[in-house]
Amino acid sequence: MAFIIRLMRQEDLPQVNEIDHEAFPTLWPPPNYQRELDNGLAHYIVACDDEIEYQPPEDTPKKGIPGLLGRLRPRFNNHPSNNEAPPKAREYIYGFTGLWLLAGEAHITNIAVRENYRRQGMGELLLISLIDLAIELGAKLITLEVRASNTDAQSLYAKYGFVQVGLRHGYYSDNREDGVLMTIEDVTSAPVQANLRRLKQAHAQRWGMTAHIIAP
Ligand SMILES: CC(C)(COP(=O)(O)OP(=O)(O)OC[C@H]1O[C@@H](n2cnc3c(N)ncnc32)[C@H](O)[C@@H]1OP(=O)(O)O)[C@@H](O)C(=O)NCCC(=O)NCCS
Repeated sequence: MAFIIRLMRQEDLPQVNEIDHEAFPTLWPPPNYQRELDNGLAHYIVACDDEIEYQPPEDTPKKGIPGLLGRLRPRFNNHPSNNEAPPKAREYIYGFTGLWLLAGEAHITNIAVRENYRRQGMGELLLISLIDLAIELGAKLITLEVRASNTDAQSLYAKYGFVQVGLRHGYYSDNREDGVLMTIEDVTSAPVQANLRRLKQAHAQRWGMTAHIIAP
């Protein structure tokens, strides 16, 4: 399966907010992603599919035959003999992630995948792409905070070579939960690069997933 990985755009914000709310229901108000798009230090990417048109939540694509019919319908509507106006092409976003780049340090702000598509390698695809982007932007170190209770995400980060380097007590304002500080030091070094190459290959083999990275 081929997915598109590209920089987040303004038109993505309704879906990004939806995914954020699903992933972080206790955080209110949600981050202002419009402000993030306007922030020169922030870099966000989305994983999407341009063969599926995004529908509002009640019509979210379903798997199986009903989902297939739903996905085909917009194409029939595009037929020249059909008088209806062609639907706006809006790619379906599976997940997103982002970072702030400051003085050679990339700080991952968040990563989230739609609940229905978790545990299928999408989080890894996003993380791989974000690490590549961080390196492209000149980062030497990649860092992040993750809730102490969020062992799923910690295990994703640990798999990609992030090491726990500290604990920020009461870091999260909603429940005063501790934040685990994790880092990949020297991300351009030969051993880190070799490990990332190995992980990318293993990911591609396991999930048969490729990403077409689209420049802005
Ligand atoms: C964290 C998150 C992005 C992972 O996305 P995903 O698409 O499910 O992840 P993947 O399928 O690519 O899994 C990759 C690795 O993550 C870890 N992982 C993900 N989900 C896990 C789970 N439920 N239990 C244990 N490990 C898990 C594993 O190490 C896994 O590797 P493995 O398959 O070899 O065991 C997703 O669970 C999510 O959106 N969570 C809510 C938002 C969130 O907590 N974000 C992190 C904020 S710091």
